[in-house]
Amino acid sequence: MTTPVNKFHLTQRQLLHELEPVVAQNLDRHTAFAVNWDPRDYIPDACENDAPTLTASARSAMITSLLTEDNLPSYYRDIADTFPPGSPWSTWIRTWRAEESQHADVLHDYLVATGSVNADALKHARMQHMSVGIESTLEGSNLLHSLAHSTIQEFMTKVYHLNNQVVCGDPVAHRILERIAADEQLHTVFYRNLCDAALDLAPDQTARAIGDVVMNFPIPGAARRDTRRRTTSVPVQPVYDFDRHLNDVLVPLLDQWNFFHRTDFGPDGELIRDRLGVFLEYLGRNAARTPHPRPTGSGLSVG
Ligand SMILES: [Fe+2]
Ligand SMILES: [Fe+2]
Repeated sequence: MTTPVNKFHLTQRQLLHELEPVVAQNLDRHTAFAVNWDPRDYIPDACENDAPTLTASARSAMITSLLTEDNLPSYYRDIADTFPPGSPWSTWIRTWRAEESQHADVLHDYLVATGSVNADALKHARMQHMSVGIESTLEGSNLLHSLAHSTIQEFMTKVYHLNNQVVCGDPVAHRILERIAADEQLHTVFYRNLCDAALDLAPDQTARAIGDVVMNFPIPGAARRDTRRRTTSVPVQPVYDFDRHLNDVLVPLLDQWNFFHRTDFGPDGELIRDRLGVFLEYLGRNAARTPHPRPTGSGLSVG
């Protein structure tokens, strides 16, 4: 006899099972739209391009991009190992990890091929960064937190890469970042759709996970930028900030989930929604206090 699903609170196992058909659907979608590409197709061009000299801002942003790609969450490994090879969850995790690894590879190869970094120093920085991990204390605490975290991280990374194109001002870097951003768009849609399905399955439980993640999400590059401000007079052109995080990532995502207009939340979901509304207002005030000029030419869409 099948155990009835509690619509208000699902166990981790129930969530994995209930979401599996959604994973299968979105895996098909991803496969239909994904492009096979090879980092080597991008790097020879970089070498022939007379090794462009990146500005301090551009070099810093490219290194941040690489370190962000490196920080592929490891908590999904358990899921991949739980399901048999060929199952939708397992196939997706392996596909996603391979694509993220490719992103890190092409950024690394570009930085080295253009002489923008010392290869040994970069290797040390990558190892150190991976051993520290992402600063969020909530990732991986359960599946819903992981899905919410991945949705925001993928979307944020896409926005970061597109803004970075303008900062770099190098056609080769532009092409590489365009390619990666297109992949991040597909990853964003995958995780966003899973969160959407989870909201329908367990509205309050998913609302809580989204609220927890949004209100604790570290903004990439913010600490690095603050550190540089204290230690150097080199002006750093911002690639990502509160304004972009709020208006280019959080607001479009929450709109896509219809978060502030859903009618299926219980008291817990309503409470989270209210808190999230207050948090977004707080973020908006911060963004208004620290306005930064926006690079022009980056086309953003939630897809
Ligand atoms: Fe990536
Ligand atoms: Fe991604």
